[in-house]
Amino acid sequence: MTQIKIFDTTLRDGEQSPGVNLNQLEKLELAKQLERFGVDVMEAGFPASSQGDFNAVKKIAETVKNVSVAGLARAVKSDIDACWEALKNAENPRLHVFIATSPIHMKYKLKKSPEEVIETAVEMVKYGKQFFDHVEWSAEDASRSDLDFLAKIIEKVIDAGATVINLPDTVGYTMPREYGAMFRYMKENVPNIDKVDLSCHCHDDLGMALANSFAAIENGATQVEGTINGIGERAGNASLEEFGVALTIRNDYYPYQTNLVLKEIKRTSDMVSKFTGMTVPGNKAVVGRNAFAHESGIHQDGVLKNAETYEIITPELVGVQSNNLVLGKHSGRHAFTDKIKQLGFTLTDDKIKEAFVAFKSLTDRKKEVTDDDLFAILTDIQTDT
Ligand code: KIV
Ligand code: ZN
Repeated sequence: MTQIKIFDTTLRDGEQSPGVNLNQLEKLELAKQLERFGVDVMEAGFPASSQGDFNAVKKIAETVKNVSVAGLARAVKSDIDACWEALKNAENPRLHVFIATSPIHMKYKLKKSPEEVIETAVEMVKYGKQFFDHVEWSAEDASRSDLDFLAKIIEKVIDAGATVINLPDTVGYTMPREYGAMFRYMKENVPNIDKVDLSCHCHDDLGMALANSFAAIENGATQVEGTINGIGERAGNASLEEFGVALTIRNDYYPYQTNLVLKEIKRTSDMVSKFTGMTVPGNKAVVGRNAFAHESGIHQDGVLKNAETYEIITPELVGVQSNNLVLGKHSGRHAFTDKIKQLGFTLTDDKIKEAFVAFKSLTDRKKEVTDDDLFAILTDIQTDT
Protein backbone atom coordinates (compact mmCIF):
# COMPACT_ATOMS: atom_id res chain seq x y z
CA MET A 1 0.00 0.00 0.00
CA THR A 2 1.38 3.42 -0.91
CA GLN A 3 1.05 5.97 1.87
CA ILE A 4 -0.56 9.24 0.75
CA LYS A 5 0.16 12.27 2.92
CA ILE A 6 -2.69 14.64 3.56
CA PHE A 7 -1.97 18.37 3.55
CA ASP A 8 -4.92 20.29 4.92
CA THR A 9 -5.27 23.93 3.91
CA THR A 10 -8.67 24.69 5.46
CA LEU A 11 -7.06 27.34 7.65
CA ARG A 12 -5.33 29.06 4.71
CA ASP A 13 -6.89 28.40 1.26
CA GLY A 14 -10.17 27.57 3.01
CA GLU A 15 -10.08 30.84 4.89
CA GLN A 16 -9.59 32.59 1.54
CA SER A 17 -13.22 31.69 0.70
CA PRO A 18 -14.98 34.99 0.03
CA GLY A 19 -16.73 36.19 3.20
CA VAL A 20 -14.83 33.93 5.60
CA ASN A 21 -12.76 35.35 8.44
CA LEU A 22 -11.72 33.11 11.32
CA ASN A 23 -10.53 34.55 14.61
CA GLN A 24 -7.60 33.11 16.54
CA LEU A 25 -9.73 31.02 18.89
CA GLU A 26 -11.69 29.49 16.01
CA LYS A 27 -8.49 28.69 14.11
CA LEU A 28 -7.01 27.06 17.19
CA GLU A 29 -10.10 24.92 17.82
CA LEU A 30 -10.14 23.85 14.18
CA ALA A 31 -6.42 23.06 14.29
CA LYS A 32 -6.96 20.74 17.27
CA GLN A 33 -9.82 19.04 15.45
CA LEU A 34 -7.73 18.67 12.27
CA GLU A 35 -5.06 17.00 14.40
CA ARG A 36 -7.71 14.53 15.66
CA PHE A 37 -8.78 13.99 12.06
CA GLY A 38 -5.23 12.77 11.38
CA VAL A 39 -3.95 15.12 8.70
CA ASP A 40 -0.18 14.93 8.19
CA VAL A 41 0.34 18.63 7.52
CA MET A 42 -1.88 21.59 8.31
CA GLU A 43 -1.32 24.91 6.62
CA ALA A 44 -2.22 27.18 9.52
CA GLY A 45 -2.24 30.43 7.57
CA PHE A 46 -0.30 33.11 5.75
CA PRO A 47 1.70 34.84 8.52
CA ALA A 48 2.76 37.85 6.43
CA SER A 49 -0.85 38.65 5.48
CA SER A 50 -1.91 40.21 8.82
CA GLN A 51 -0.90 40.46 12.47
CA GLY A 52 -3.99 38.42 13.37
CA ASP A 53 -3.02 35.57 11.06
CA PHE A 54 0.58 35.69 12.29
CA ASN A 55 -0.64 35.36 15.89
CA ALA A 56 -3.00 32.50 15.01
CA VAL A 57 -0.29 30.55 13.16
CA LYS A 58 2.12 31.07 16.09
CA LYS A 59 -0.45 29.86 18.62
CA ILE A 60 -1.31 26.78 16.52
CA ALA A 61 2.40 26.00 16.04
CA GLU A 62 2.89 26.07 19.79
CA THR A 63 -0.19 23.96 20.55
CA VAL A 64 -0.58 21.05 18.11
CA LYS A 65 2.16 18.44 18.37
CA ASN A 66 1.31 15.40 16.25
CA VAL A 67 1.13 17.17 12.93
CA SER A 68 3.48 19.26 10.81
CA VAL A 69 2.44 22.93 10.75
CA ALA A 70 3.03 24.97 7.58
CA GLY A 71 2.84 28.66 6.78
CA LEU A 72 2.45 30.18 3.33
CA ALA A 73 4.95 32.65 1.89
CA ARG A 74 5.27 34.46 -1.42
CA ALA A 75 8.75 34.27 -2.90
CA VAL A 76 9.99 37.23 -0.87
CA LYS A 77 12.33 37.20 2.12
CA SER A 78 10.00 39.16 4.43
CA ASP A 79 7.23 36.54 3.98
CA ILE A 80 9.69 33.73 4.76
CA ASP A 81 10.94 35.63 7.82
CA ALA A 82 7.34 36.00 9.04
CA CYS A 83 6.79 32.26 8.56
CA TRP A 84 9.87 31.38 10.56
CA GLU A 85 8.96 33.77 13.39
CA ALA A 86 5.47 32.24 13.58
CA LEU A 87 6.56 28.61 13.22
CA LYS A 88 9.91 28.33 14.96
CA ASN A 89 8.41 26.77 18.11
CA ALA A 90 6.52 24.09 16.20
CA GLU A 91 7.45 20.44 16.68
CA ASN A 92 7.66 20.00 12.92
CA PRO A 93 7.54 23.33 11.03
CA ARG A 94 7.21 23.59 7.27
CA LEU A 95 7.67 26.51 4.90
CA HIS A 96 5.35 26.63 1.90
CA VAL A 97 6.77 29.08 -0.61
CA PHE A 98 5.26 29.65 -4.05
CA ILE A 99 5.80 31.51 -7.28
CA ALA A 100 3.77 31.42 -10.48
CA THR A 101 5.14 29.58 -13.51
CA SER A 102 2.49 30.02 -16.21
CA PRO A 103 3.14 32.47 -19.09
CA ILE A 104 0.10 34.57 -18.18
CA HIS A 105 1.07 34.91 -14.50
CA MET A 106 4.76 35.54 -15.21
CA LYS A 107 4.05 38.20 -17.84
CA TYR A 108 1.12 40.11 -16.31
CA LYS A 109 1.25 39.48 -12.58
CA LEU A 110 4.92 39.02 -11.78
CA LYS A 111 6.28 40.98 -14.77
CA LYS A 112 9.28 38.65 -14.73
CA SER A 113 10.92 36.62 -17.49
CA PRO A 114 10.97 32.82 -17.05
CA GLU A 115 14.70 33.02 -16.24
CA GLU A 116 14.04 35.59 -13.51
CA VAL A 117 11.31 33.36 -12.06
CA ILE A 118 13.77 30.45 -11.85
CA GLU A 119 16.35 32.69 -10.19
CA THR A 120 13.85 33.98 -7.59
CA ALA A 121 12.46 30.49 -6.87
CA VAL A 122 15.95 29.05 -6.29
CA GLU A 123 17.05 32.00 -4.18
CA MET A 124 13.95 31.81 -1.96
CA VAL A 125 14.12 28.04 -1.45
CA LYS A 126 17.77 28.43 -0.42
CA TYR A 127 16.82 31.29 1.88
CA GLY A 128 14.04 29.22 3.47
CA LYS A 129 16.35 26.25 3.97
CA GLN A 130 18.48 28.34 6.33
CA PHE A 131 15.58 28.07 8.80
CA PHE A 132 13.40 25.11 7.78
CA ASP A 133 14.28 21.43 7.21
CA HIS A 134 11.06 21.03 5.27
CA VAL A 135 10.43 23.40 2.39
CA GLU A 136 7.48 22.88 0.10
CA TRP A 137 7.74 24.75 -3.16
CA SER A 138 4.64 25.41 -5.27
CA ALA A 139 4.50 26.29 -8.95
CA GLU A 140 1.40 28.44 -8.91
CA ASP A 141 -0.79 27.85 -11.98
CA ALA A 142 1.34 24.78 -12.78
CA SER A 143 -1.40 23.26 -14.90
CA ARG A 144 -1.25 26.17 -17.38
CA SER A 145 2.57 26.19 -17.46
CA ASP A 146 4.89 24.91 -20.15
CA LEU A 147 5.91 21.36 -19.21
CA ASP A 148 9.57 21.74 -20.17
CA PHE A 149 9.86 24.99 -18.26
CA LEU A 150 8.17 23.35 -15.29
CA ALA A 151 10.58 20.40 -15.41
CA LYS A 152 13.54 22.80 -15.54
CA ILE A 153 12.47 24.94 -12.58
CA ILE A 154 11.54 21.86 -10.50
CA GLU A 155 14.99 20.37 -11.07
CA LYS A 156 16.58 23.61 -9.85
CA VAL A 157 14.42 24.03 -6.73
CA ILE A 158 15.09 20.40 -5.76
CA ASP A 159 18.81 21.12 -6.08
CA ALA A 160 18.24 24.20 -3.92
CA GLY A 161 16.77 22.01 -1.15
CA ALA A 162 12.98 21.78 -1.66
CA THR A 163 11.59 18.64 -0.03
CA VAL A 164 8.07 18.79 -1.49
CA ILE A 165 7.07 19.92 -4.99
CA ASN A 166 3.46 20.99 -5.32
CA LEU A 167 1.84 21.39 -8.73
CA PRO A 168 -1.45 23.22 -8.21
CA ASP A 169 -4.33 23.40 -10.61
CA THR A 170 -4.73 26.94 -9.32
CA VAL A 171 -7.70 27.94 -11.46
CA GLY A 172 -9.36 24.53 -11.66
CA TYR A 173 -8.81 24.39 -15.43
CA THR A 174 -7.33 20.94 -16.04
CA MET A 175 -9.04 17.69 -16.94
CA PRO A 176 -8.05 14.55 -14.99
CA ARG A 177 -6.08 12.81 -17.75
CA GLU A 178 -4.23 16.03 -18.53
CA TYR A 179 -3.42 16.73 -14.88
CA GLY A 180 -2.23 13.16 -14.36
CA ALA A 181 -0.01 13.44 -17.45
CA MET A 182 1.74 16.47 -15.97
CA PHE A 183 2.72 14.42 -12.91
CA ARG A 184 3.86 11.53 -15.07
CA TYR A 185 5.96 13.91 -17.19
CA MET A 186 7.75 15.26 -14.11
CA LYS A 187 8.32 11.76 -12.77
CA GLU A 188 9.91 10.78 -16.07
CA ASN A 189 11.88 13.94 -16.84
CA VAL A 190 13.09 15.56 -13.61
CA PRO A 191 16.27 14.16 -12.05
CA ASN A 192 15.97 13.41 -8.33
CA ILE A 193 12.17 13.71 -8.43
CA ASP A 194 11.92 10.48 -6.44
CA LYS A 195 13.78 12.11 -3.54
CA VAL A 196 10.90 14.54 -2.86
CA ASP A 197 7.18 14.28 -2.27
CA LEU A 198 5.13 15.29 -5.29
CA SER A 199 1.95 17.05 -4.25
CA CYS A 200 -1.34 17.96 -5.91
CA HIS A 201 -3.55 20.93 -5.05
CA CYS A 202 -6.79 21.08 -7.01
CA HIS A 203 -9.43 23.76 -7.31
CA ASP A 204 -12.99 22.96 -8.24
CA ASP A 205 -13.93 25.57 -10.84
CA LEU A 206 -15.00 22.88 -13.33
CA GLY A 207 -16.01 20.39 -10.63
CA MET A 208 -12.85 18.31 -11.25
CA ALA A 209 -10.93 18.80 -8.00
CA LEU A 210 -11.47 15.32 -6.57
CA ALA A 211 -11.06 13.52 -9.91
CA ASN A 212 -7.88 15.49 -10.58
CA SER A 213 -6.49 14.57 -7.15
CA PHE A 214 -7.02 10.89 -7.96
CA ALA A 215 -5.40 11.37 -11.38
CA ALA A 216 -2.39 12.90 -9.62
CA ILE A 217 -1.88 9.99 -7.20
CA GLU A 218 -2.34 7.50 -10.05
CA ASN A 219 0.63 9.24 -11.68
CA GLY A 220 3.04 9.53 -8.81
CA ALA A 221 1.78 12.21 -6.40
CA THR A 222 2.34 11.20 -2.77
CA GLN A 223 0.67 14.18 -1.11
CA VAL A 224 -2.86 15.48 -1.60
CA GLU A 225 -3.85 18.99 -0.58
CA GLY A 226 -7.40 20.03 0.12
CA THR A 227 -9.86 21.39 2.64
CA ILE A 228 -12.74 20.24 4.81
CA ASN A 229 -16.10 20.64 3.05
CA GLY A 230 -14.11 21.66 -0.05
CA ILE A 231 -14.05 25.33 0.94
CA GLY A 232 -11.48 27.67 -0.60
CA GLU A 233 -10.86 30.33 -3.25
CA ARG A 234 -13.82 30.71 -5.68
CA ALA A 235 -15.40 27.23 -6.16
CA GLY A 236 -13.10 25.81 -3.50
CA ASN A 237 -10.56 23.00 -3.21
CA ALA A 238 -10.71 19.22 -3.28
CA SER A 239 -12.72 17.94 -0.27
CA LEU A 240 -10.46 15.97 2.02
CA GLU A 241 -13.34 14.03 3.56
CA GLU A 242 -14.44 12.91 0.09
CA PHE A 243 -10.88 11.95 -0.81
CA GLY A 244 -10.33 9.94 2.40
CA VAL A 245 -13.64 8.12 2.16
CA ALA A 246 -13.33 7.36 -1.56
CA LEU A 247 -9.86 5.92 -1.02
CA THR A 248 -11.12 3.72 1.82
CA ILE A 249 -14.34 2.54 0.20
CA ARG A 250 -12.55 1.75 -3.07
CA ASN A 251 -9.45 0.11 -1.61
CA ASP A 252 -10.28 -2.82 -3.85
CA TYR A 253 -9.33 -0.48 -6.70
CA TYR A 254 -6.75 1.88 -5.15
CA PRO A 255 -3.68 0.49 -3.34
CA TYR A 256 -3.27 3.63 -1.23
CA GLN A 257 -3.81 4.54 2.39
CA THR A 258 -3.80 7.69 4.54
CA ASN A 259 -3.59 8.44 8.26
CA LEU A 260 -7.05 10.03 8.27
CA VAL A 261 -9.38 9.06 11.13
CA LEU A 262 -12.63 8.90 9.18
CA LYS A 263 -14.95 8.81 12.20
CA GLU A 264 -13.87 12.41 12.94
CA ILE A 265 -15.28 13.62 9.62
CA LYS A 266 -18.74 14.68 10.75
CA ARG A 267 -17.47 16.62 13.75
CA THR A 268 -14.76 18.32 11.67
CA SER A 269 -17.21 19.22 8.92
CA ASP A 270 -19.73 20.63 11.42
CA MET A 271 -17.08 22.73 13.11
CA VAL A 272 -15.81 24.16 9.82
CA SER A 273 -19.34 24.95 8.75
CA LYS A 274 -20.15 26.64 12.07
CA PHE A 275 -16.99 28.77 12.29
CA THR A 276 -16.91 29.80 8.63
CA GLY A 277 -20.67 30.33 8.31
CA MET A 278 -20.54 28.29 5.09
CA THR A 279 -23.49 25.90 5.11
CA VAL A 280 -22.82 22.45 3.68
CA PRO A 281 -25.19 21.78 0.74
CA GLY A 282 -27.70 19.02 1.57
CA ASN A 283 -26.59 16.86 -1.34
CA LYS A 284 -22.84 17.21 -0.66
CA ALA A 285 -21.04 13.85 -0.79
CA VAL A 286 -20.18 12.29 2.59
CA VAL A 287 -21.15 15.26 4.81
CA GLY A 288 -24.36 16.65 3.29
CA ARG A 289 -27.57 16.34 5.31
CA ASN A 290 -28.95 13.97 2.64
CA ALA A 291 -25.82 11.82 2.25
CA PHE A 292 -27.46 9.05 4.33
CA ALA A 293 -31.12 9.97 3.82
CA HIS A 294 -33.58 7.97 1.72
CA GLU A 295 -36.93 9.30 0.62
CA SER A 296 -38.38 7.06 -2.06
CA GLY A 297 -40.39 3.99 -1.09
CA ILE A 298 -38.30 1.72 -3.30
CA HIS A 299 -35.04 2.85 -1.71
CA GLN A 300 -36.46 2.79 1.82
CA ASP A 301 -37.74 -0.72 1.32
CA GLY A 302 -34.30 -1.83 0.07
CA VAL A 303 -32.45 -0.16 2.93
CA LEU A 304 -34.76 -1.70 5.52
CA LYS A 305 -34.03 -5.13 4.08
CA ASN A 306 -30.28 -4.55 3.70
CA ALA A 307 -28.68 -1.09 3.96
CA GLU A 308 -26.05 -2.01 1.37
CA THR A 309 -28.71 -1.95 -1.35
CA TYR A 310 -28.46 1.84 -1.45
CA GLU A 311 -25.62 2.77 0.91
CA ILE A 312 -21.99 2.34 -0.10
CA ILE A 313 -20.74 4.16 3.01
CA THR A 314 -21.95 3.32 6.50
CA PRO A 315 -22.93 6.45 8.46
CA GLU A 316 -20.83 5.20 11.41
CA LEU A 317 -17.67 5.21 9.26
CA VAL A 318 -17.76 9.00 9.08
CA GLY A 319 -19.13 9.68 12.55
CA VAL A 320 -22.80 10.03 11.61
CA GLN A 321 -25.12 8.27 14.09
CA SER A 322 -27.47 6.58 11.66
CA ASN A 323 -29.10 6.78 8.30
CA ASN A 324 -32.39 8.57 7.95
CA LEU A 325 -35.54 7.42 6.23
CA VAL A 326 -37.22 10.70 5.38
CA LEU A 327 -40.97 10.47 5.08
CA GLY A 328 -42.20 12.36 2.05
CA LYS A 329 -44.53 11.89 -0.89
CA HIS A 330 -42.38 9.14 -2.45
CA SER A 331 -42.22 7.06 0.72
CA GLY A 332 -43.87 3.68 0.96
CA ARG A 333 -45.84 1.73 3.56
CA HIS A 334 -42.80 -0.27 4.70
CA ALA A 335 -40.84 2.76 5.97
CA PHE A 336 -44.05 4.27 7.33
CA THR A 337 -44.82 1.16 9.39
CA ASP A 338 -41.24 1.08 10.65
CA LYS A 339 -41.54 4.70 11.74
CA ILE A 340 -44.78 4.00 13.62
CA LYS A 341 -42.94 1.38 15.69
CA GLN A 342 -40.01 3.73 16.33
CA LEU A 343 -42.41 6.36 17.63
CA GLY A 344 -43.80 3.82 20.12
CA PHE A 345 -47.26 3.17 18.57
CA THR A 346 -48.87 -0.25 18.21
CA LEU A 347 -51.71 -0.09 15.71
CA THR A 348 -53.92 -2.68 14.07
CA ASP A 349 -53.48 -3.20 10.32
CA ASP A 350 -56.64 -1.22 9.64
CA LYS A 351 -55.45 1.70 11.73
CA ILE A 352 -52.07 1.61 9.93
CA LYS A 353 -53.90 1.78 6.59
CA GLU A 354 -55.93 4.73 7.84
CA ALA A 355 -52.84 6.50 9.16
CA PHE A 356 -51.02 5.92 5.86
CA VAL A 357 -53.85 7.59 3.92
CA ALA A 358 -53.74 10.59 6.28
CA PHE A 359 -49.93 10.75 5.95
CA LYS A 360 -50.04 10.61 2.11
CA SER A 361 -52.62 13.36 2.03
CA LEU A 362 -50.34 15.51 4.21
CA THR A 363 -47.39 14.94 1.83
CA ASP A 364 -49.34 16.70 -0.92
CA ARG A 365 -49.27 19.80 1.27
CA LYS A 366 -45.85 19.43 2.98
CA LYS A 367 -42.48 18.51 1.41
CA GLU A 368 -41.23 16.66 4.47
CA VAL A 369 -43.37 15.14 7.18
CA THR A 370 -41.76 15.51 10.61
CA ASP A 371 -42.01 13.25 13.65
CA ASP A 372 -44.28 15.84 15.25
CA ASP A 373 -46.66 15.69 12.25
CA LEU A 374 -46.73 11.90 12.47
CA PHE A 375 -47.26 11.97 16.19
CA ALA A 376 -50.33 14.15 15.69
CA ILE A 377 -51.75 11.85 12.97
CA LEU A 378 -51.08 8.68 14.97
CA THR A 379 -52.46 9.98 18.24
CA ASP A 380 -55.61 11.05 16.46
CA ILE A 381 -56.06 7.65 14.83
CA GLN A 382 -55.19 5.68 17.95
CA THR A 383 -57.79 7.48 20.05
CA ASP A 384 -60.42 7.46 17.28
CA THR A 385 -62.87 4.58 18.01
O1 KIV B 1 -4.10 27.42 -5.67
C1 KIV B 1 -2.90 27.69 -5.53
O2 KIV B 1 -2.10 27.75 -6.46
C2 KIV B 1 -2.45 27.98 -4.16
C3 KIV B 1 -0.99 28.12 -3.97
C4 KIV B 1 -0.64 29.20 -3.03
C5 KIV B 1 -0.41 26.80 -3.58
O3 KIV B 1 -3.24 27.99 -3.25
ZN1 ZN C 1 -5.18 27.05 -3.83
